[in-house]
Amino acid sequence: MMTNTTNGDLLLKNINAQAPFPISFADLEKAVAEKIDAGPYGYVRSGAGGEQTLRNNRAAFEKYSIIPRFLNNVANIDTTIELFGKTYPTPLLFAPVGMNKMAHEDGELAVVRAANHLEIPYIQSTVSSYALEDVAQAAPNATKWFQLYWSTNEEIAYSMVARAEAAGFEAIVLTVDTVMLGWREEDVRNQFSPLKLGYARGNYVNDPVFMASLPDNSFESYVQGVLQNVFHPTLNWENVRELKRHTKLPILLKGILHPEDAQLAVDNGIDGIIVSNHGGRQLDGVIGSLDALPAIVEVVDGQVPVILDSGVYRGMDALKALALGADAVAIGRPFVYGLALDGQQGVEKVMTNLYDELKVSIALAGATSVKDLRNVTLVKNNGVDDI
Ligand SMILES: Cc1cc2nc3c(=O)[nH]c(=O)nc-3n(C[C@H](O)[C@H](O)[C@H](O)COP(=O)(O)O)c2cc1C
Repeated sequence: MMTNTTNGDLLLKNINAQAPFPISFADLEKAVAEKIDAGPYGYVRSGAGGEQTLRNNRAAFEKYSIIPRFLNNVANIDTTIELFGKTYPTPLLFAPVGMNKMAHEDGELAVVRAANHLEIPYIQSTVSSYALEDVAQAAPNATKWFQLYWSTNEEIAYSMVARAEAAGFEAIVLTVDTVMLGWREEDVRNQFSPLKLGYARGNYVNDPVFMASLPDNSFESYVQGVLQNVFHPTLNWENVRELKRHTKLPILLKGILHPEDAQLAVDNGIDGIIVSNHGGRQLDGVIGSLDALPAIVEVVDGQVPVILDSGVYRGMDALKALALGADAVAIGRPFVYGLALDGQQGVEKVMTNLYDELKVSIALAGATSVKDLRNVTLVKNNGVDDI
């Protein structure tokens, strides 16, 4: 459970007699590299191609600095946000991350329990290790959204959406940047494909339409079926409009980077946008996600929520994204590392530290709420370029 009061010493609870838990993203990454095999570690860590997009994500955050204000009584910080009519105590979300059993046996079940405990919305991936029904049962009260990878056989996509709706999921997140797999060289080096190893089984083997499409019930047929369906190069705006006709739930598009696509999303009645480059895992050489944000915030102009992910590794990163107009930020790799290190506890630890640093940062910037952050003075390249 999260609270919004600051007692001024949020950091010091990390300095105690217990075994230390990695405090920064770099420390987390190092600890996970030592703990899990090179294949899964490389899969989570790496970006596509020469990893320019991965670097751009971090460089985008590093470019921005803030000029804080003082003497503003920052004893009470309001970090609540509202999304689709519900209020949440933090502006954080769990980004959809597939195949969590690679990191920990409890996989998505551990993450959704952490999400429930922290009251942070949880976005479950299509390619999760556990079925969405099992995830729903593990945390019936958590806010859960379902991330959809369109399916070459669209009836499978509609079937998964209907199952998600029936299981109490509250929104559909259609990922638009993964019509085929990014060029991920680290996985070739490690000769590692979690899809081929069956880590993405959860939602597929429990889907009657998918199972009926297979020639038989063998593992090989299942893997081939997933590979044939999960990449879907024909995806287009007509599919989006058709999806809208198939569900009453709000639909968000994840992976939007161009303001004209954001405009088209709004024109097509989409309910939310996730500005993301998939954590640098899809097209290499892409604009840092934070650099794409301001132009999208401008065209969307408050009509629908804009969420940002890719490279949010600490509270101060979240602050910068919120100050540039994001309504919330989603976290990917950091929580996966927490999961790998210590299951549900590890996820909670990582997200709590991120949140605590955000609270400290809001206060030290001289703001008192997430909305207030829009008034914080941000400069680019240490003030050489004004924003
Ligand atoms: C191991 C891994 C698996 C992912 N699986 C999915 C997925 O199944 N669906 C999806 O839309 N995005 C997926 N993503 C992308 C995340 O949702 C998110 O965009 C990205 O991780 C954000 O960047 P960050 O890791 O720098 O926070 C995955 C990311 C990672 C690291």
